[in-house]
Amino acid sequence: MTPKIAEYLRDHAPATPCLVLDVDRVEQNYRRLKAALPLARVYYAVKANPAAPILQRLTGLGSSFDAASFEEIEACLAAGAQPGAISYGNTVKKVSAIRAAHEAGVTMFAFDSEAELLKIARNAPGARVYCRILVKNEGAEWPLSRKFGCELDMARDLMVQAGELGLDPYGISFHVGSQQTSTAAYEGAIARVAMLFTDLKEAGVKLRMVNLGGGYPVRYRAEVPGIDDFGTAIMGAMTQHFGNDLPEMLIEPGRFMVGDAGVVSSEVVLVSRKGKDDPVRWVYLDIGRFGGLAETEGEAIKYAFRTPHDGGADGPVTIAGPTCDSTDTLYEKSNYRLPMALDCGDRVELLSTGAYVTTYAAQGFNGFRPLAEHYI
Ligand SMILES: Cc1ncc(COP(=O)(O)O)c(C=O)c1O
Repeated sequence: MTPKIAEYLRDHAPATPCLVLDVDRVEQNYRRLKAALPLARVYYAVKANPAAPILQRLTGLGSSFDAASFEEIEACLAAGAQPGAISYGNTVKKVSAIRAAHEAGVTMFAFDSEAELLKIARNAPGARVYCRILVKNEGAEWPLSRKFGCELDMARDLMVQAGELGLDPYGISFHVGSQQTSTAAYEGAIARVAMLFTDLKEAGVKLRMVNLGGGYPVRYRAEVPGIDDFGTAIMGAMTQHFGNDLPEMLIEPGRFMVGDAGVVSSEVVLVSRKGKDDPVRWVYLDIGRFGGLAETEGEAIKYAFRTPHDGGADGPVTIAGPTCDSTDTLYEKSNYRLPMALDCGDRVELLSTGAYVTTYAAQGFNGFRPLAEHYI
């Protein structure tokens, strides 16, 4: 929690549940990334948090943007981004959205299949295209697995075909999975990309760009490697495989950029037990899975909690949201402990919740309002 957020919560005590996000921290994270990977251009993954104050601050800093939909492209343009600084990074796009992006001046598009490549060729003629390949997601706490990307031999053929279709075969992308805790994941993926560069050069296609995707982690409950460790591993692998002929490098950080800039403030609605002697207390908060904490699915992302009683005696808890749906149970197996003194009415803060929370919040499931947002 940044001092600015702590002060805001103390002075304003905004109604819960709400996200309070410190936009200065986003700027610091952008600068830390640029320092760790000075040769890479940053394309902020808008999906992590598309709030206008974030997009405006990043535009001012010279950031580019990775958009998942035409709506995100519009949000970037409204924040002052140039269309040339926007990559349409979703490999699954409606024809109408491709056309609208092309008309808005967006020139860079991702694909991972022939059908998508043909859609781009027809509706965004001459666009720069990059093919997303499948890579291992081991080490990622929020893996993206097989949904996006294609095998190397297919990527090779599609990049040749891209040139034949009048498109600009620009480069290759991958995503090692979100909240990636292993630097080796990038090293393995870069080795695969380098093989493709060589194959395609032999086929007469000179690629110019590697898109290293997102994945850079945030500290939740457990320690993670620092951003400099990722920078060192990535640059080591790039020079090992490309030598002096380094291609342009793009990164698409989402979580790293905004995660630790935000705190969700919530209220304890009930503390109860399922049996008189049950050691485990159930702590029900006024935010749960449908209020935006979708990444607690499978207890994948383990947020850290702060309470007014920290430091006192604690005990085991199951933590749940407020709705009448049993999947709205956040943590049952991850050995969470909270202070014994915790009681209904207490405010509880969920740390590093600036990424992938606000946009996951349901509009009115069980009648609860979507998460309130304060950008400071
Ligand atoms: C294409 C693409 N780029 C970047 C990101 C951002 O990833 P992260 O938040 O792990 O940095 C995602 C996340 O889903 C993505 O799908």
